[in-house]
Amino acid sequence: GAPYVAYRDGELWVEDVPLAQLAREHGTPLFVYSLAALRAAAAAWQQALAGRDAQVCYAMKANSTLAIVQALVQAGCGVDIVSGGELARALRAGVAPDRIVFSGVGKTRAEMRAALQAGIGCFNVESRAELEVLDAVARELGVRAPVSLRVNPDVDAQTHPYISTGLRDNKFGIAHDEALDAYRHAAALPGLQVVGIDCHIGSQITTIAPYLDALDRVLDLVEAIEADGIALHHLDLGGGLGIEYHGEQPPTPQALVQALLARLDARGHGGRRLLFEPGRSLVGNAGVCVTEVLYLKPGTGKNFLIVDAAMNDLPRPAMYEAWHAIAPLRPRSDLPAIEWDVVGPVCESGDWLGRGRRLAVQPGDWLAVGSAGAYCMSMASHYNTRGKAAEVLVAGARSQLIRARETVADLWRQERVLALD
Ligand code: LLP
Repeated sequence: GAPYVAYRDGELWVEDVPLAQLAREHGTPLFVYSLAALRAAAAAWQQALAGRDAQVCYAMKANSTLAIVQALVQAGCGVDIVSGGELARALRAGVAPDRIVFSGVGKTRAEMRAALQAGIGCFNVESRAELEVLDAVARELGVRAPVSLRVNPDVDAQTHPYISTGLRDNKFGIAHDEALDAYRHAAALPGLQVVGIDCHIGSQITTIAPYLDALDRVLDLVEAIEADGIALHHLDLGGGLGIEYHGEQPPTPQALVQALLARLDARGHGGRRLLFEPGRSLVGNAGVCVTEVLYLKPGTGKNFLIVDAAMNDLPRPAMYEAWHAIAPLRPRSDLPAIEWDVVGPVCESGDWLGRGRRLAVQPGDWLAVGSAGAYCMSMASHYNTRGKAAEVLVAGARSQLIRARETVADLWRQERVLALD
């Protein structure tokens, strides 16, 4: 696609704004996103589904910043939420409530109530126990809760174990063998209205095969459930499509959707309404994180490059040993490139952003950490009493601050000084 983040005239730009200009204006660490990249990612999914009855529901856990959710909602996406907090953000971002689906294994009664009152499109229910509670909460409110059961197709998505969710031993979903029985039970509960079926097998999936395996397993269930007299209005195939961090070659949304549609058509389910819940593939490569080099600490074994972004801003390397590109905003030729472990200031050995990276840098230089649009800011923490970074959205030659940098006062706003003696 179009290079929304690219070098021009010796420096790195996001669309038509040099990143160095934004770093100077807003300080670092700084997340910068491209609006055109967000829109192109949404369009890729939507065009793949053109002519079908389908809805893309952005899994906002990937990046729940209001302006990012707004941009995707304005591009026609619904939203997949997993908490009352995400519900409030989604509504604040202006999504039509019937385009919200609510996933997650631990919905509270209060969250269910709020979602029912908002009139969301579907609860993706993950256990029999949750069915009972949702039924009770809906009847208390005098409404019927629209539900899908999230079924666990027991397929291996062949991704990192922490982000694989479709295996029998994961905590997610209702086991394939128990699904028909659970559907019979759901259909008999007066507070529930069965509307669909749902599955999600994992994240950062880079091949089509596990999706087709899961689809086949789910269609077997669909046929059994409908033969039992329970109509399923939609089929939610979850999210999980991977992006390129470092040489991966994931299918495009187009290729994935085409393969799924072909299988649906072949099995006589071509007319069915489809939902998808992509997160990473909508936002991951739409953002970078700019960080400043603080210190060079060459050593006998390793050379450490200490930057001002850390695991609290970019948790993926520490949590999953994930690889993110690290590149200078202004490449220099006056210094030799040597191999560095790029680390943050947080007091943990696990606080690294990249290992063994060849870079020519000096203190004061800026670096961009790539593919930082998904699961970075939304997973950021305050560890070491570090405020969350600022975020900027770029559109052409214009830019807007969409999250101001947190101050220390923001961090302890809810705390109370010691009053006991
Ligand atoms: N739907 C459900 C029910 C999910 O649990 C998830 C992600 C998605 C959709 C969106 O998946 P995506 O399209 O973004 O792969 N923090 C990890 C990823 C955790 C994914 C959790 N669930 C990471 O940084 O790699």
